[in-house]
Amino acid sequence: MGRFGDDKIEEVRSRADIVEIVGAHVRLRRAGRNFVGLCPFHNEKTPSFSVNAERGFFHCFGCGVGGSVFNFITRVEGLTFPEAVRSLAKKYGVTLPEHDVAGPAAGEREAMLKASEVAAEFFAHVLWNTTDGAMARDYLKSRGISVETARAFMIGYAPSRPASLAKALEKRGLREAGVKVGLIRKDGNVAIGAETYDMFRGRVMFPIRDAQGRAIAFGGRVLDARLPKYINSPESPLYSKTRTLYGLFEARQAISSSASSGKDRAILVEGYFDVIALWQAGFKEAVAGCGTALTVEQLRVLSRYTKNVIACFDGDAAGRKASMRALEIFLQAGLLGRGIFIPSGFDPDTFVRERGAAAFADLTEKSELLVDYFIRDQAEKVGGPTAALEKRVQAAKLVAEKLRLISDEIQFNLIVRKTEGLLGIGEEVLRKEARGPGRS
Ligand code: UTP
Ligand code: MN
Repeated sequence: MGRFGDDKIEEVRSRADIVEIVGAHVRLRRAGRNFVGLCPFHNEKTPSFSVNAERGFFHCFGCGVGGSVFNFITRVEGLTFPEAVRSLAKKYGVTLPEHDVAGPAAGEREAMLKASEVAAEFFAHVLWNTTDGAMARDYLKSRGISVETARAFMIGYAPSRPASLAKALEKRGLREAGVKVGLIRKDGNVAIGAETYDMFRGRVMFPIRDAQGRAIAFGGRVLDARLPKYINSPESPLYSKTRTLYGLFEARQAISSSASSGKDRAILVEGYFDVIALWQAGFKEAVAGCGTALTVEQLRVLSRYTKNVIACFDGDAAGRKASMRALEIFLQAGLLGRGIFIPSGFDPDTFVRERGAAAFADLTEKSELLVDYFIRDQAEKVGGPTAALEKRVQAAKLVAEKLRLISDEIQFNLIVRKTEGLLGIGEEVLRKEARGPGRS
């Protein structure tokens, strides 16, 4: 906290209007000296969440969460403490020292963020304002993406000339920072005939943004199908693939604002275009992994916004298998997770564009808990609660493997009961079988 100086933090705290900040996420009504509403951090039907405007704190009598306006922002928006301070300082007009006490490392980070920002603006400029961008504009149009949508996602185009971005960054003294975030390479490329060259060339560019909307990495799609379809920024001090979700910045407002009605959810898809097409069709809550297999960390990040995550899978055998793998990852992240299967031959992008938003909404309404698919699958394999005991025991062992991944007692009990019903295996047997290390 010494980063900004304690009096600066105090200044931000006192200027920030906690009722306004909380009110953006929770419907509050006045009750005496306080404001009350439904707690955004746990599920409840009667309000136990209160905000004290005079003293500048919030508290939930239901789940015990509470703290300052900074704590609220870090929880709801997934920001770090310093990021929360910066964001509120900006909103309430408090000037913070440009270079904080964290020293040169922080300065380097700033430069990398700046380089990414300059790159995103450069790519967007090329897309919308240059003849180089014409083909990419046509391409986006052919994929049904409106100008408004493309702008919301800051889509751009990287020209095919070898070092256009490199020049733009060099002019601003950001070449080294550009190298560090993987936008520029200095290793010499014979085919390109240049020592220093742009990593992304002739590609439609999707900025991957952090919780504050700042570009931290990019995905680039070819127009010319012979090259690798996508290339993505490498890991960098700004960007951890395993922790980042594409579209989360664009989605989180929608997710948070539906939290007070209890209808909050996220839709998890695979690709950039899936997120964008769903967003355009009105499913603003869509997010995707960043070219990696789904990770526990990504789900933990997402679970700060909503516990209700619907994952989309292909409708074929591979998709079924993927949903079983996903179940383990969901459970380890403390989520049950729901799944939907997109009919073969479609991905969410093509499905929603060809079949329409209502058809996709229909799929989401038919979503089921991933554990339900799993237990039913096991039950079908063995033949239900009246099958031979050995078979049912075998299936129960498989369910118990999953049960071991669960730390939440309520979730654990729920699954035990479901398994009991579908496999006819007694609760005690299951509990014993699932009693891995750490559970008694
Ligand atoms: P897909 O191959 O399903 O592509 O990869 P897509 O998203 O549907 O793209 P379009 O519709 O063909 O244009 C899904 C995701 O996997 C990652 C990307 O994040 C992509 O969005 N991916 C795919 C890569 O990182 N590299 C690749 O070469 C391919
Ligand atoms: Mn696709």
